[in-house]
Amino acid sequence: MSEHTDVTVTWRGLWDETASVIGDRQHARWMCETASSTDPGEFLAGLHQTPMTRMVSHLDAMVARYQTGEPLQYVLGSWSFRRLDLNVDKRVLIPRPETELVAEVAIGLARAIDDERTVVDLGTGSGAIGLACADELPLDGTTVWLTDASSDALDVARANLAGVGRAARNVRVALGNWFAALPDDLEADVIVSNPPYVAVGSVDLEANVGEWEPKGALFAGADGLNDYRVIVPGAIDYLRPDGWLVLEIGYDQGPAVSALFKQQGYRKIEVRRDFAKLDRIVLAKRPA
Ligand SMILES: C[S@@+](CC[C@H](N)C(=O)[O-])C[C@H]1O[C@@H](n2cnc3c(N)ncnc32)[C@H](O)[C@@H]1O
Repeated sequence: MSEHTDVTVTWRGLWDETASVIGDRQHARWMCETASSTDPGEFLAGLHQTPMTRMVSHLDAMVARYQTGEPLQYVLGSWSFRRLDLNVDKRVLIPRPETELVAEVAIGLARAIDDERTVVDLGTGSGAIGLACADELPLDGTTVWLTDASSDALDVARANLAGVGRAARNVRVALGNWFAALPDDLEADVIVSNPPYVAVGSVDLEANVGEWEPKGALFAGADGLNDYRVIVPGAIDYLRPDGWLVLEIGYDQGPAVSALFKQQGYRKIEVRRDFAKLDRIVLAKRPA
């Protein structure tokens, strides 16, 4: 963008200019809100105000990053997930709207349990699913484990802990390869995961996703099922007798992942769809 030497420039002018430079008025607005540290209401109320120099510098830096193709969410540095505003950067997958449904299913199953409930979010990334569980389940009697094989991702998840306020005391964070992160004697009521599920070489993957988001969060072997092959049998040892396993899946993986559950003897296997009516979740009860 141009140098903003005109001291009379207002946020309205800066928003217009940013929108014309990047070609997206909504994205420009979100960048202006981030640069000005305002919420949507405050931003609109302050459109006539003159930005501080450091805010203009921040906006210019965001625009430059956006113009390289970096995803908006990383440029902004935060993104909303259910009731949370999560820090996100290139160390973690950008939380997707369909994953909010996965969290909703896990929360519903855990909420139905009286007294004490333990939820495990395997491969937590930014902490999205697990922190939403901690945030929305009762403060008393809830324990939520966040695990990941990436210490970089867990640094982001830990930074996001503050966003759940007092519920942070219910959260445990653990590094490791799937179940190796957990204590051997852990008994979970709900294990939930959005594991990597993209087939290597998949033509479905948007170029921008493959370029910017962590490879370790995306790819799971030649057919995208490698991590389900570990998680579905492995969860049995960490679930209570009536515990549930809830997995996010790719739109075309419903039959294959259901078959993995069936092979292991899981009960009440169900495939649920997302907002676009695509298969997105498989859930089932631990084998008897
Ligand atoms: C698709 S991302 C999901 C991130 C987050 N749960 C979400 O829904 O936005 C998958 C996550 O699994 C983690 N992961 C990959 N392989 C793993 C493994 N073997 N053990 C534990 N976590 C793993 C990745 O680092 C990544 O954070």
